[in-house]
Amino acid sequence: MSWDDWIRTAEVEPSLYAADFSRLGGQVEILLRAGARVFHFDVGDGHFVPPITVGPIVLQWISPIVHRAGGVLDCHLMVEEPERHLAAIAEAGGDSVTFHLEAAADVPAVARAARAEGLQVGLAFNPATEPAAAAALAREVDLVLCMSIEPGYSGQAFMPAAIERVGELRGLLPASVHVQVDGGVGHENIGSLAAAGADLFVVGSAIFGRRNLPRAYDRLAQALG
Ligand code: DX5
Ligand code: ZN
Repeated sequence: MSWDDWIRTAEVEPSLYAADFSRLGGQVEILLRAGARVFHFDVGDGHFVPPITVGPIVLQWISPIVHRAGGVLDCHLMVEEPERHLAAIAEAGGDSVTFHLEAAADVPAVARAARAEGLQVGLAFNPATEPAAAAALAREVDLVLCMSIEPGYSGQAFMPAAIERVGELRGLLPASVHVQVDGGVGHENIGSLAAAGADLFVVGSAIFGRRNLPRAYDRLAQALG
């Protein structure tokens, strides 16, 4: 299975980083019932990004719930030396892994190592990195992730320059490579990001920060048509 099987034109991906971890499984089930199929799982190591977030130990409990309902887990590695964590992510039930070009000494080698673990592959880049630098390295990946915040925390303000950066990226990539955006995505910008060419929308606080999770998910999915 691959991203092309998982994406129904476009996907809103609830970012579990913003969930209530005391009831993580329940919140995932609520969103699965609301129609979410791709869940975003942020791994931060306290080095590439300041905070330590969650890792395979949490992933292994969530992945069976998601897989049982036909969903998938898209793992965003905000870590140095991402190659060290690929096997553990695959073992814990991750379906796709996205690593940062700023954190990888040899991007094609990490992409190949991820594929060897049976993972789909994404390449992420920070706001300070040029979209062209990511596009030039995207030959071996399924998606490119344009960060619209500095990676690290949920709940930060969207950087409006991301809309143009997504457009530039889309123009540089082959049609077969998906464009994902992550950080501060919500009702106010999802339409513009889609128009610029993104098809994968990671959403943390604009879903989990609302009282009614299904309604928040549904409104965002509807905005994509
Ligand atoms: C933070 C993570 C994001 C985060 C997004 O660096 O990569 O996935 O959870 O959260 P919001 O949508 O609140 O910016
Ligand atoms: Zn993320």
